[in-house]
Amino acid sequence: MAIWGCILGHKTAFITGVSGQDGAYLAAFLCKKGYKVHGLVRWDSYVSPMDGLVRLDALGLVRDEVTLHTGDLTDANNLNLLIKSIQPDEIYNLAALSHVKVSFETPASTFDINALGTLNILESVRVLGMEDRVRVYQASSSEIFGACPAPQNEDSSMNPCSPYGAAKLAAYHLARIYRQSYGMHASNGILFNHESPLRGEDFVTHKITRAVAEIERGRQEPLLLGNLDSVRDWGDARDYVRGMWMMLQQDAPGDYVLATGESRSVRDFAVRAFAQIGVELVWQGAGVDEQGVDRETGRVMVGVDSAFFRPLELHYLLGDAAKAKEALGWQPETSFDELVGQMLDADRALLDGLVKDGSDVLCRLAG
Ligand code: GDD
Repeated sequence: MAIWGCILGHKTAFITGVSGQDGAYLAAFLCKKGYKVHGLVRWDSYVSPMDGLVRLDALGLVRDEVTLHTGDLTDANNLNLLIKSIQPDEIYNLAALSHVKVSFETPASTFDINALGTLNILESVRVLGMEDRVRVYQASSSEIFGACPAPQNEDSSMNPCSPYGAAKLAAYHLARIYRQSYGMHASNGILFNHESPLRGEDFVTHKITRAVAEIERGRQEPLLLGNLDSVRDWGDARDYVRGMWMMLQQDAPGDYVLATGESRSVRDFAVRAFAQIGVELVWQGAGVDEQGVDRETGRVMVGVDSAFFRPLELHYLLGDAAKAKEALGWQPETSFDELVGQMLDADRALLDGLVKDGSDVLCRLAG
């Protein structure tokens, strides 16, 4: 029989990818709930401040409260030893190569990390004989739906359009196979895009808010983007980490879509962000010659650069999170406009030097 008897405040969680956006917010969330939190970080997280532990720092006490372990998802032995010594109640597998475009350039390492890495976690739990006492959250992605018509939910067909999506789909199936074969409490959170002030700047939302804040402060060059017509269902990462936790509190494992049920194009996102600095964008031209222009001054604010196109684009994502709402009682709490405003405010504060590394404002925004 499973040992779920530990008191909530004394549970132990192990988060892979703890230095990323979701890992940092989840660590903060679990610490607040009284969990003892362990996090896996790659060795280079310690030496590269931009990709490293800044997010944990930004969330105040988290870094002190989280026990960090150096490791790598592709190193099965390392994972085995860590899981054996940590003895977690819950494992959140968030580590991944998470940039879809980069996965076209590094497909093999994408598979190693995103698919084989997940297998290594599941196998560690199995060979350690911990399948009755550990619950596993697998960070799946709406990228697994690929070209499937919207809205997408747990029953939709899965036709990924990128090495990233294909690797995430393999990991999704592995979690299901381990659940069905070994009775493991392994759940897939099929998360649609989720953003925050801690989002990496190579993702389109933060790239846009950062550029808008810079333009507000005198930057002259326009913002260059790729596919303006791509549509995404953008939510708030803080809402989504709460959903991850809720999945692991269920008696039975399962697969759940988390999404807002609202979709917008990249163009819409840019319009909304520029509106916040009083610029009304109007669009001229088409294709790579399209430009977003300030209606009042005629100045070009947004251009298109084919360097940001993907070899194969996933055009339309819109999630249906009815199952999560019904079964988990989960729903998103942050509106789209609030999200855009918070991301822009964080960029403004950083650029104005109001905070050294964004910590204060990010900490306030961490919720
Ligand atoms: N990154 C980026 N940069 N994307 C751009 C740009 C640009 O300059 N211009 C247009 N886009 C388009 C992309 O082509 C894509 O259609 C959309 O904006 C969103 O791109 P990203 O923000 O890079 O996110 P993503 O949708 O590819 O992937 C994110 O969401 C997934 C969940 O659906 C990542 O967080 C994945 O890890 C996650 O699984």
